[in-house]
Amino acid sequence: MTTALHRARFTDRTAMVTGAGSGIGRAIALALAAEGGHVVAVGRRQELLEETVALIEEAGGKALAVSADVARATDVQAAAAAAVEHFGSLDVAVNNAGVFRGGAPLADLTEEDWHTQLDVNVTGVFLALRAEIQQMRTQPTGGAIVNIASIFGAHARNPGAAAYAATKAAVSALTRGAALDHIGDGIRINAVSPGAVQTPMSLRPGETDADRSARARATLPLGRISTTREVAAAVLYLASDDASSVVGTDLVVDSGATA
Ligand SMILES: NC(=O)c1ccc[n+]([C@@H]2O[C@H](COP(=O)([O-])OP(=O)(O)OC[C@H]3O[C@@H](n4cnc5c(N)ncnc54)[C@H](OP(=O)(O)O)[C@@H]3O)[C@@H](O)[C@H]2O)c1
Repeated sequence: MTTALHRARFTDRTAMVTGAGSGIGRAIALALAAEGGHVVAVGRRQELLEETVALIEEAGGKALAVSADVARATDVQAAAAAAVEHFGSLDVAVNNAGVFRGGAPLADLTEEDWHTQLDVNVTGVFLALRAEIQQMRTQPTGGAIVNIASIFGAHARNPGAAAYAATKAAVSALTRGAALDHIGDGIRINAVSPGAVQTPMSLRPGETDADRSARARATLPLGRISTTREVAAAVLYLASDDASSVVGTDLVVDSGATA
C-alpha cells in the first residue's frame, strides 16, 4: 500500500478568497495554492494582496490580486468576473473579509462602528455569496463556498462584542439558509467559526502577544489559541471533495473554548 505524502485537492480549481492580504485569509490563500488551486486574492489594500500573490508565485503557484471592497456590489461582481476571465471558472470561494470594532459595552458603540461591521461582515458576505453563486450555478461542476463566521456569533458569549457577535451570528444563519437554497445547484456552502486566532484581531486593547498566550494558557482547554494554518486546514476540508456530503455546517475551530 502506498501513502500519498502530499495531497492536491484543488488542482486546476480557481479559488477566490476575500481578505487574502493578511491573517487568516492569507493563510487560506497559501494553503489553497499549495494544493494546486489558482487563487484570486481579494481585499482593499492592493500592496498586501500583491504580497500574498508573490508568496504563492515564489512557491510555484498561480494567483491574481484584485482590489475590491466587499461592501460594494459592483466590486464583488468584478472580482468574481476577474476569476473567470483569468482562470476560466470559479470553483471555490472563501468569504473571510471581516472587521472587529469592539472592546466597549454596547451603549458606547458609535453608529459608525455599528454600520462598518454590518457593511463588511454581513452585507459583504451576502454580496460575495450572491456573486459567487450566480457564477457557480452556470458551471456543470457547481462549486463550494466557505464563510468565516466566529464563535462569538452562534457559539460563545463574550462581553464587549455584542455588535460583532450579531454580525457573525448573521453569517452563521446566512450560511445555513444559502446552503439550503443552493445545494440543488450543486453548490455546497458551509462556515468555519474560529475562536481566538494568532492575528492582531484577537489581541485585547493594550495586550501583547505574551499576555495573550498567558490568557490562553489559563483559560482555553487546549492551553493556546489557534494558528491561522489550523483555521485554513478546516476551510480546505470543507471546500474540498472530502466534504462532499457536508452542507450548511458551521465548523468550530476554537482550542476547546466552547467544548
Ligand atoms: N483573529 C481572530 O481571532 C478571529 C476569530 C474569529 C473570527 N475571525 C474572523 O476571521 C476573519 C479574518 O480575520 P483576521 O484575524 O485574519 O483579521 P485581519 O488580518 O484584519 O483580516 C481581515 C481582512 O479583511 C479585509 N477586509 C476588511 N474590510 C474589507 C472590505 N470592506 N473589503 C474587502 N476586504 C476587507 C482586510 O483587508 P483590507 O483592509 O486591505 O481590505 C483584511 O485582509 C474575519 O472575518 C474575522 O472576523 C477572526
